Amino acid sequence: MGVASLITMVDTSVRSTCAAHTTVQPRNLKQKGETMSDLVNYEGKRVVVVGGSSGMGAATAQQAAQLGAEVIVLDVADIGYPCTQAIKVDLRDQTSVDAALDQIQGPVHAVLACAGVADGTPNIMTINFTSQRHLVEALVTTGKLGPGGSIGFISSVAGLGWMDNLDNVKEFLATPDWDTAAAWIDEHEGTDGYSFSKMAINCYVAQQAFPMLQKGLRINAIMPGPTDTPLAQANADQWLTFGADYREAADVPTLVPAQMSNTLLFLASDAASGVNGITMLVDQGHVAASLVDAFDAPLVKVLAGLAEFEPWMLGVGERPES
Ligand SMILES: NC(=O)c1ccc[n+]([C@@H]2O[C@H](COP(=O)([O-])OP(=O)(O)OC[C@H]3O[C@@H](n4cnc5c(N)ncnc54)[C@H](O)[C@@H]3O)[C@@H](O)[C@H]2O)c1
Repeated sequence: MGVASLITMVDTSVRSTCAAHTTVQPRNLKQKGETMSDLVNYEGKRVVVVGGSSGMGAATAQQAAQLGAEVIVLDVADIGYPCTQAIKVDLRDQTSVDAALDQIQGPVHAVLACAGVADGTPNIMTINFTSQRHLVEALVTTGKLGPGGSIGFISSVAGLGWMDNLDNVKEFLATPDWDTAAAWIDEHEGTDGYSFSKMAINCYVAQQAFPMLQKGLRINAIMPGPTDTPLAQANADQWLTFGADYREAADVPTLVPAQMSNTLLFLASDAASGVNGITMLVDQGHVAASLVDAFDAPLVKVLAGLAEFEPWMLGVGERPES
């Protein structure tokens, strides 16, 4: 069989599988007479932002409101700006998350999972991933987030190595709920950490692209590079020094939260209606340049699973001649 007929066969089979389920209507600029700014508009939409008290989540919530959305903000901390509804939630506690879910009225058009904490915080996997997966899936199963809707997560460059750890991450993601996820993490040493939480997000987004699309939904994530937020400032020695040599050599400033919210809101908008299942690097090109040796950053290769860590990469000892 030739390649062309194989492609036709696969295409026909995928179309027939999807046809029965897909309710998402592709939007076309010419048919609708819409401009790009119409497509990124959130007028008439309800957006849920998880972790919207500060940093990228706060930028996302405020920018969504500027674009016309009704914005519901969930956080353990107070929300210091006007929004449609602020809901107190502690992502470490399922009862608190379920109580927050009860307070959210549908229809919701986008849920943006922005909450996160750094290594050293107890229950990091629950906060950074499991609770936010629970929220997203509950909004979908209750029908509050329905066809045409969009899901966005904030991952990190720290999750770059997910494909290199695919078996492990997939085994974790096979846990169906909050308790089984927590039990799996307890049983697997070294998984209750920042990097694993972000690998889980990247793999989850890829895994869910097809089943969510069958429900008329899209799911994507961004992978920010170091960004000037309260969380990064609290871990400045590790977070804001990462890639500092790249930024200096390129003469660009440290990223700011609005550069993340711009991208997240674009991905969740109708302007990105063809984009699904991706984790988009928003890092000024640091990773891409480093992977192809256009910039020398051995730690990026370690994060991507392409090199073993050696102490000289952190300035300890001599770098061997290559
Ligand atoms: N800042 C960076 O350099 C950077 C880089 C890559 C990825 N990220 C990711 O970006 C996301 C946003 O982080 P940020 O840098 O804006 O930090 P941030 O601390 O400003 O925002 C995190 C938000 O999560 C909330 N939160 C924390 N624990 C919670 C809990 N138990 N229950 C409810 N809410 C809780 C905080 O109150 C805060 O509003 C995180 O997922 C983080 O991992 C940050």
